[in-house]
This record gives sequence, structure tokens and C-alpha cells, in this order.
Amino acid sequence: MDLYIDTANLDEIKEANDLGVLDGVTTNPSLIAKEKTDYGKRLAEICKVVKGPVSAEVIAIDFEGMMKEGKERAKIAPNIVVKLPSTVDGLKACKAMSDADIKTNLTLCFQPLQALMVAKVGAFLVSPFIGRIDDIGEDGMLLIQQIRQIYDNYGFKTKVLAASIRHPKHMVECALAGADVATVPFNVIKQMMQHPLTDTGLKKFVEDYKKAFGG
Ligand code: G3P
Repeated sequence: MDLYIDTANLDEIKEANDLGVLDGVTTNPSLIAKEKTDYGKRLAEICKVVKGPVSAEVIAIDFEGMMKEGKERAKIAPNIVVKLPSTVDGLKACKAMSDADIKTNLTLCFQPLQALMVAKVGAFLVSPFIGRIDDIGEDGMLLIQQIRQIYDNYGFKTKVLAASIRHPKHMVECALAGADVATVPFNVIKQMMQHPLTDTGLKKFVEDYKKAFGG
């Protein structure tokens, strides 16, 4: 399972990359807005640190605008993946970019048929948003399971990228459901190596050893 970090913060990206487990990065307009920096410049900085796929979202919502912005973003570095919304215009842009060998990540996916359609036009990644589905009282993980089943039924190559992950339990469930990739905020990446019994167990091992042998 690949692990991406979901942030546009360079310090977080560097710190996660130093752990040796990072396979890629996803960004979006809200995440870049928090950084108060130029989107293109930040993407270039991220691509110098991480060699795996770096998702760069378009701001335009019409086909022509998406194509223009997407082509500009794709020139930033060879590992840029153009992030497009799962709309009719996004679908058309996905098809055109796939034909031009530009990799895409179809975002804001909330139902399985969006995932089916974008796979048919060659999306590299599809991003179902688990947390936001849970937020409205539905089951985000069911969407991951349904997309996995549909892609396996027909041999679609599009990778299922679980997004809007809020806590470690989401991660466990995504791994069990067979998501190809999960994009995760930095705080959740850190939680993935934590357990209170690890901390208390470690403390006791060290104390017992020192009691017996000193030091
Ligand atoms: O990158 C998109 C997605 O991960 C957003 O997550 O927490 O804003 O729903 P969230």
C-alpha cells in the first residue's frame, strides 16, 4: 500500500519523507491557501523533495480552463499528477490528458459511478473522500469497498487513493479494503507508530534493566 501525505506544508513533507515511508504527496486549493504562497512555486519545491507522484489541483472548473492549467502544472516536474474534479468537464479533461500522457487524479469522488467513469477514460488515481462522507452520517469506507470491487471486476488500472482520512482507524480499514494508496495528514502519519502500551512497555523494560544492572 502506498502512503502519500496530504499537505502543502514543506516542513511536514520533509519530515514525513525522512521517515522513509513516503510515496507521494497530494495538495489541494484549501491546503495551499493555508500556506499563503504561490502554488506553482510550492509544487516545484515539493517535487525537489519527493520523487513519487505529486498531485497538483486545477482551480478552473471548465474544460478549457482545466486543460490550460493542467498543462502548465504538468510542466513543473515529471512527477506532477494533475488533479481534476470528478465532474463532466473533469471527465473530458481526464480523457484529453490521458491521451496526451499526462497523469491525472480525479478528486472529490463521492459515489462509485464517478470512479467507474474516470477509470474508463484512463485516470491514474481516483480520490474517494472517506471523512467527508462520514461527516454527513454515511459510510465512507463502503465507497472504498465498492470501487475496489468494481475495478477488480473489470480489471481497471486506475489506483484507488483513499482521501479525507481523519484518524488511524480509517487507515486500518482502507488497508483491509484494498485501497492502493492512502493520502494522510501529517498528524495521522505520526499516530500510525503510536500505542500507549508500547510507551508503558518500553518504560518498564528500561526500568527493570536499570534496577537489575544499574545505569
Ligand atoms: O486532499 C483531499 C482530502 O484529503 C481532504 O480531506 O479532511 O479536508 O476532508 P478533508
